[in-house]
Amino acid sequence: MKQSPSPTFEIDSDRIGWVTFDDPERSLNVLTEPVMLRFGEVLDEARAAAREARLFALVIRGKADSFIAGADVDAIAGIEDPGVAEQQIRVGQGIYGDLAALPVPTVAAVHGVCMGGGVEMSLACDFRVVSDGPKTVMSLPEVQLGILPAWGGTTRLPRLIGLQAALDLILTGKRIDARRAKRVGLAAEVLPAGGFEEAVRSFTLSVIRHGRRPGAPRRKLMTRVLDETPPGRRIVLTMARRKVMSTTGGHYPAPLRILDLLRDHLGGSVEDSLAAEARAGAELVVGPVCKNLIHVFHMREAARKGTGLGPAADTGADPVTARRVQALGVLGAGVMGGGIGQLAAARGIRVYMKDIHHEAVTGGLRHARSLFDKAVSRRRMTRLEAAQAQERISGGVDYHGLSGADLVVEAIVEKMAVKKAVLRETEGHVSRGCVLATNTSSLSVAEMAEALEHPERFCGMHFFNPVDRMPLVEVIRGPRTSDEAIATVYRLSVELGKVPVVVGDGPGFLVNRILGPYLNEAGFLLEDVGSVEVVDRVAKEFGMPMGPLRLIDEVGIDVSGHAGASLHEGLGDRLAPSPILVALGATGRLGRKGDLGFYRYEKGKEKGVDPDVYGALGLPTPSGKGTPAEDTVREIRRRLVVAMINEAARILDDGIVTAARDVDLAMIMGTGFPPFRGGLLRFADTLHPRGILDRVRELQDRYGDRFEPAPLLVRLAETDRSFYATFPGPAGTR
Ligand code: NAI
Repeated sequence: MKQSPSPTFEIDSDRIGWVTFDDPERSLNVLTEPVMLRFGEVLDEARAAAREARLFALVIRGKADSFIAGADVDAIAGIEDPGVAEQQIRVGQGIYGDLAALPVPTVAAVHGVCMGGGVEMSLACDFRVVSDGPKTVMSLPEVQLGILPAWGGTTRLPRLIGLQAALDLILTGKRIDARRAKRVGLAAEVLPAGGFEEAVRSFTLSVIRHGRRPGAPRRKLMTRVLDETPPGRRIVLTMARRKVMSTTGGHYPAPLRILDLLRDHLGGSVEDSLAAEARAGAELVVGPVCKNLIHVFHMREAARKGTGLGPAADTGADPVTARRVQALGVLGAGVMGGGIGQLAAARGIRVYMKDIHHEAVTGGLRHARSLFDKAVSRRRMTRLEAAQAQERISGGVDYHGLSGADLVVEAIVEKMAVKKAVLRETEGHVSRGCVLATNTSSLSVAEMAEALEHPERFCGMHFFNPVDRMPLVEVIRGPRTSDEAIATVYRLSVELGKVPVVVGDGPGFLVNRILGPYLNEAGFLLEDVGSVEVVDRVAKEFGMPMGPLRLIDEVGIDVSGHAGASLHEGLGDRLAPSPILVALGATGRLGRKGDLGFYRYEKGKEKGVDPDVYGALGLPTPSGKGTPAEDTVREIRRRLVVAMINEAARILDDGIVTAARDVDLAMIMGTGFPPFRGGLLRFADTLHPRGILDRVRELQDRYGDRFEPAPLLVRLAETDRSFYATFPGPAGTR
């Protein structure tokens, strides 16, 4: 194994030992195996120096904007054997144990990103001092990867800051800034980022001179009763378990194991707790949920670091420059336009919204303001930041405001003729290099491009509703779209904090095309099963964030009806709307926005299935809620999931995307497809190609040709190859 030059260790004239993590090969410090071994050696040197009175205190620091970003995710992904996993965790715990046992005061000087194993290292120190720099954040994100903080985090954090505050971090993986770290008792001091090293030195000298002891933060009496007494802890843990079950449906083992560990070991010895932590961590690391979540992590990272153009361009072989968008034009100040404008302004981009109605512009600005207010109330922005961002948005009914735009996104009515006319007009008012994009969710990008003098500068930029919450952007390449246009839209999407996936042009693009047969099947199922609750519950138990019928309400029954009709037109009779969905459209119900759909709503809140919906659809009202038989549940689940897999296979065959992981990332980010399953096609691959084909054929026999197997499924079954093996994506990417 290659020796790591990081961390380095030197003792200064005040006999303070400085351990500096500075990995020359990475922008962020990561705790790889060589780095951990080197750190172990450094601690040996420090212990020897302390014994000889050459060392009075030890400070651990990082580099630039990175303290330590955590353990090596690739190494975690590769472990398959629980015995090996436990042993490796014990090695890490041992090194941090040596740190905790040093006979001199230890200080973690946290400036920049401090996550996972970095936080756990700081927990093994006597003091944590934290810089007030904007990049300083602390978090324990392990649970998001399906594991737990096993290098002492689950053991030491609750002992330091109390059970409730610790659960708030360990169960969520949330990031906290310096001030919050101080408030919860994780940090002893917040020090100014400018002159941080000097401030750390003074702090450490005062510890050496005055023998300062780590102090516990003052906590309210009630907090202490709940944190420190056995009955109090029981209440806290029971409530936390209930919350975990309601938010995850029990699909994620890590948070439950964390709660078990704390229940069994918080009152006992640190040693026993560490041993249990290692055992639990090892079991989780080798489990399928961890592997799937790491797969999702890698897909997201690849999307964030990519250019949208594949590896040749990513490696700079023939560099295509993405235009940096500093000024954005938005056509249409409605629901989507207002949301897009707000998002861009929040990220420092100047925005001009153009509409045909003054009232719509005012409405768009108001919509943006309400989103900023929400961000302030959720502490995502300060009041000042929100006010400054709002000032970046202007709007009007003429085109002049678009002249300086680097990119114009069109989000006007969903009508081809109007869009074409508006795009053509826009072209006459923008600079030569300005990129144009459409937010259409169902119209052909290729056809729209025909209206343009320069179709190469045009592509799709399909945001999902609501723009501020939905992470996916489909970047749609038309037949004549240039690489520059794709790269520009892709880069902007990343800068807006979104996850872009580049897809080809075609009905419904990717996500809506897969949702089409899924939602339609829910209509057929409702007719066969007779209960809205049952259909939706099965989908939720599979892990979808909401059932398909509830989703139709959410999207809007009118909008989803139009989408269904356009898929039917574009893809043929296998997408013919189910009679129930046709009947639903005829009821005039709108779904959540009209307070009535399959469910009833009050002030936007769902209040259960509307008992009258059955009558309205010509169905008998189900008697009682009744639990369906196991094979009914299996059949519902199979029909819903197979409908999606079969369509995804057609999407790959049509070249809408070229990698299985593009389908998976888009479905997770665009529909909330359960991340613990790793993605639709990764899940399909666990069923084996032959198994899927058999299932589809069975459904075709029973329900007709809407389940006709996609030709790709037949080929995969014949050649016994998985989706991922057949569509691995461009070489060099995961
Ligand atoms: P909306 O009806 O809320 O807003 C459309 C706005 O465009 C209105 O303010 C209207 O006055 C304005 N407009 C109409 N003609 C115009 C013209 N010639 N020039 C400038 N402005 C004009 O519609 P929404 O929901 O924001 O949708 C806009 C686009 O976004 C559509 O293409 C839609 O398919 C797409 N989209 C909608 C989603 C949704 O769930 N609402 C999701 C994803 C995409």
